[in-house]
Order: sequence, then structure tokens, then C-alpha cells
Amino acid sequence: MEVRKLDAPLGAEIVGIDLRKPVSDSQFEAVAKAFAENGVIVFRAQDITPQQHIDFSRRFGELEVLKFYAQYLHKDHPEIFVVSNIVENGKSLGLPDAGRVWHTDVSYKGEPSLGSLLYAREVPHREGKPLGDTMFATMISAFDALPTDMQSKLSNMTASHRLDEKRYTVDLKTQKERGKRAQLTDEQRKMIKDVHHPIARTHPVTGKKCLYINELFTVAIDGLDPTESDELLAQLCQHATQQKFIYRHRWAVGDLLMWDNCSTQHLAVGDYAPTDRRLMHRTTVRGSVPF
Ligand code: SIN
Repeated sequence: MEVRKLDAPLGAEIVGIDLRKPVSDSQFEAVAKAFAENGVIVFRAQDITPQQHIDFSRRFGELEVLKFYAQYLHKDHPEIFVVSNIVENGKSLGLPDAGRVWHTDVSYKGEPSLGSLLYAREVPHREGKPLGDTMFATMISAFDALPTDMQSKLSNMTASHRLDEKRYTVDLKTQKERGKRAQLTDEQRKMIKDVHHPIARTHPVTGKKCLYINELFTVAIDGLDPTESDELLAQLCQHATQQKFIYRHRWAVGDLLMWDNCSTQHLAVGDYAPTDRRLMHRTTVRGSVPF
């Protein structure tokens, strides 16, 4: 097994591992180390079943069963969240527009996800080129690149995160409709509440500071009036997602990507037509209270 850094501000590829087979403790240790150090890990040409995907994911911790996405969970494996634009017999196989706004998974919970593992089953192509890339930005470099006075100011601040349905459908900057999606049920809405996380979050393994805000789930900077909060949030979100912090992954069927939900945020590029089939399976590893 070998870890090869990607030619990008974050990420590494691991070669020489077959995820159909149980991963030994020493291999797992090396994967976990590479994961903490690089934020995104790419495994190519894997041919895994949903159960093998789950088994490998469970090495990192317990898996989330995403209550807000109940209708998009795999019917036999609720630990798998299905991201797909495919409709069969009038029914969507998965959530078609997942991740179209920069975010980090489950930051709307008091214990957000440690990391997610996304497996490509069908990838759309046009003129031989894959579509539906996923972009990842490093929040370690984003924090390090802030002026020191801003770093000190943020070090004592928290932000509120919430699953806000409107953010999926309306672009806050332009107020333009992004698209429609199925509404939450009343029961799901009752589960929504604000949680508060440090903006300068400490990575639980490396101890590095990560800029922990995102456009999809961060709704306010605590302690500021609404105008100041909106302005600072917009400034930080714009800073965090600059080109110089980004790795853009071009998918091939069989790729399994895992990303760190503390040190990175991500965005799914919606550049394919509804008829271009895309089918991805995601597991989401539980995390701990941010500090
Ligand atoms: C996600 O945000 O988990 C989905 C990413 C993707 O489909 O590329």
C-alpha cells in the first residue's frame, strides 16, 4: 500500500489496497494517518458491495443514519445515503441535487460527522469527459491564510448552524431559485434546532485550526447583529472557497473518496443533464463535539 499526495492543495491517493478484502490493523492505521494529514483520500478502481462499503467505513466509527434524508437511504442498507438523479418507475433512486452549495456534512448537529465516504457507481459523461465533479477546499490552509488579527478574533467566536430548507432552494446572494426539492415532513421539521460551533475549530487528530463555517448550514455568527453577522459570514465563505484551496475530483466508476468533515468542505458540480445518469453511495461517519 502506498500513499501518493495529489498535485493539489489537499488530498492523497492510496494505491495497492483492495477494499473487497478486510483491511488489516496496520493498513488501517496507515489509511487513518493519511486521512488526517491530507483531508481527502482517493481509492481508485474499487469494486465493492454496499456491505463492503459499510464495513470499511465502520473502521472509522459508527455510521449516521441520516434522519432528514430518510427517503434517500438505501432500502437494504440505511447507513448508505444515495445521491442520484436516476428515476426508476417514477421514483427517485436518491437525492438528485445533494451538495450543490459549499458545506461540510452534518454541521447542523451538535456532533457533526467525522468524515464521509462516497462511492461512484455511475458517472455521467459528455464527449468522453466525466461530468459531476466534486470540489474540496482545505479549511486548514483557509484558516492559516487569514490575517493574524482575524485569526485571533475568530478564535473566541462561535457560529450557529442549522438545517435550513430554504438554503437548498434559494441562492442567498442573488435570491435566485436553485431548484426544487422535496419538502421535509412536519416530524423532520420538529427535529431542527440551532447548534453552536467554534469558528476556529481544532482538528481532533492533528490539533490544527480549521475554519469551520459553510454556506449551506452556518446561519449566523453568534453575538453579532444580523447585518454584521451576514457580512462576516459572506466574507469568510468567500475566503474559504478560493481556487487556491481547492482540489477538484473527476470521478470514474469505482472511485471511493473519503473526506474529513472538519478540515475540508465540499461542493458537487451540477453540470450534467437530468438524463445523464449519476449514482453515488455515501456513508457518513459520526463525529464528536467540536472544540
Ligand atoms: C455530498 O455532498 O455528499 C454529495 C457530493 C457529490 O455528489 O458529489
